[in-house]
Amino acid sequence: MKILITGASSGIGEGLARAYATSNNELILLARREEKLQKLQTELISQVKSINIVIADVSEFKILQEKIKKIGVIDMVILNAGISIGHSLEITPFEDFKRLYDVNLLANHAILEVLLPLFKSRKNGKIVFISSLSSLVAMPSSKAYSSSKRALNSYAESIRYKYKNNGIKVINILPGFIQSEMTDKNRFKMPFLLSNADGVKKIYNAIEKEKRFYPFPLKFYLIIKIFNLLPQFLRDKIVNSLY
Ligand SMILES: NC(=O)c1ccc[n+]([C@@H]2O[C@H](COP(=O)([O-])OP(=O)(O)OC[C@H]3O[C@@H](n4cnc5c(N)ncnc54)[C@H](OP(=O)(O)O)[C@@H]3O)[C@@H](O)[C@H]2O)c1
Repeated sequence: MKILITGASSGIGEGLARAYATSNNELILLARREEKLQKLQTELISQVKSINIVIADVSEFKILQEKIKKIGVIDMVILNAGISIGHSLEITPFEDFKRLYDVNLLANHAILEVLLPLFKSRKNGKIVFISSLSSLVAMPSSKAYSSSKRALNSYAESIRYKYKNNGIKVINILPGFIQSEMTDKNRFKMPFLLSNADGVKKIYNAIEKEKRFYPFPLKFYLIIKIFNLLPQFLRDKIVNSLY
């Protein structure tokens, strides 16, 4: 299988690259940090059919699309590249907000604008979105991140409905907290934090089982689900008591 993984230079993306590094897979790893990708390429080269790296900033849409076109036909894309901009109650500067939306949401459409026609013509293709459990709750300190991932859920669902008869599988993964460079920066207690290895294993299994919607860890998801069933005034009370 030929697989493109965005954001493969660290964290979840790097873990998924290792998980898919088997003799029948051709990997294409995309990110900005060349040294990190080269190191991973050298490490995995003997385990895979082939491994190539693509150095790209996913927020430079035109350049990104040219690079994706050069890759050509693939079987699966894992849209994992993402950023957070810290948790703050201050007004998010517009440029930071925009950059986050560019990376977490719009870059995925830039990539799929190239790949969807190829998947459609072959009647085959898997699209994996890496969303977040935080897309299911609105907290005053993560306005940009949560809303970008909520928009991603909606986009993933639309793509799934639209292409259901075209042999295209859409898998939306909503992780809770997983140890990575992103979460290493968090200065608050992260409930149900998973090790990188455990988180990646769950994501890998969900992809292999072609789960359409996979929120985890289950306990964390159920708490959020119950919270969302409460009347608005009660949710307001609970959230306001936390800040
Ligand atoms: N860790 C968690 O708890 C958690 C929970 C829910 C969802 N997620 C999601 O999981 C995904 C991976 O995050 P992670 O936790 O593994 O964090 P991470 O270790 O910081 O990895 C982020 C990856 O995205 C790449 N990236 C960031 N900006 C990019 C850009 N402009 N162009 C190209 N690549 C870019 C980074 O590569 P370069 O810096 O080399 O470009 C890196 O490989 C993200 O979408 C995140 O929102 C994470």
